[in-house]
Amino acid sequence: MIAVKQLLIYPIKSMQGIALMHAKSIDGGFEYDRILMISEPDGTFITARQYPDLLKLKTAIIDNQIQVSLPINESIMINLDEFSLSNEATEVWGNHFTSHIAPIKVNQFFSQFLQKDVQLRWIGKQLNRITKRHPNVPVSFADGYPYLLLNLASFNYLEQRCPEKLDIQQFRGNIIIEGALPFAEDGWKSIKIGNVIFDIIKPCTRCVLTTFNVNSAIALPNNEPLRTLGYFRSDLDGKIDFGMNMIARNHGNVSIGDKIEVLERQPAKNYLTNFPKETIKGYQPCTITFEDKEIVGNNQKTILEQLEQHHISLPNSCRAGICGRCAVLLKKGNVTPLTQSAVSQDRQILTCSCIPKGDITIELAK
Ligand code: FES
Repeated sequence: MIAVKQLLIYPIKSMQGIALMHAKSIDGGFEYDRILMISEPDGTFITARQYPDLLKLKTAIIDNQIQVSLPINESIMINLDEFSLSNEATEVWGNHFTSHIAPIKVNQFFSQFLQKDVQLRWIGKQLNRITKRHPNVPVSFADGYPYLLLNLASFNYLEQRCPEKLDIQQFRGNIIIEGALPFAEDGWKSIKIGNVIFDIIKPCTRCVLTTFNVNSAIALPNNEPLRTLGYFRSDLDGKIDFGMNMIARNHGNVSIGDKIEVLERQPAKNYLTNFPKETIKGYQPCTITFEDKEIVGNNQKTILEQLEQHHISLPNSCRAGICGRCAVLLKKGNVTPLTQSAVSQDRQILTCSCIPKGDITIELAK
């Protein structure tokens, strides 16, 4: 079953997140998610991209106030009722709107930490930030979309190939799911979790923020994990994607353990694949013989993907081991099944959910 493994909110943009058992979807995202951010005195947003030390600050919600703790055991309580009533000009990624400014003592706290004159801003009760692409969907201080979905299997796939130790928190997701095949989320258009329907708008294009260790705020060597992601998640424009940006169609509740129901699918975006083979742990080439064609394959990708890369298409639909449309007969060799039902006793295998263990011969199931 595909289900919610973790739920996270980040009350202050760029600071550490809070893990939740239940999250409430409201206008702008999950309740309390990215409702505050650090800005220049003129309202221009500041993030950990410029000031990575922001990543070290821990946040907690206590009696409707937000507590921020510095690494040196100093903390401050932030009361939203004490913010300015006036609407002050604010900017995030060229998007202009208004927000409220924190009291002087709070601004001094963050200015002292960053050694720079800054302010803390609150988005306010009535969100007035909208983006051009989705004028009906209010957004908090998030970069552009209210929700970010991460698939744990996709993260594990990356982790197995990346030479540096990674933490999924580097990708700052809101909903982390388990039980799906790696990158199954690429082919989803809308999903239901709990009583909320989410539309998957686009893959999330990643930046330098993902390269910082979440505790030390020190960048990993060699621009990882962007470098490794670039080997298999770069599009034709050179953008590197990981995770999916979503908007919610309705308010509601999402909890850990909730099942993910895929309501609509869409064709997955195409990515360039140019993995230097020596960088893949355990990489083994093999021969895949299908009908009377032979292709050079490997023990890393599903049979369906590898055939498609060689322009051999098989019937398929769910690409998740559910519909059975991609079944073939395994005449010779062995495979690693990714789901329990991917191999049946009569050696029918689901090509979307099996990876060759070595040379294999397959033919269409009669
Ligand atoms: S495509 Fe549906 S089971 Fe493989």
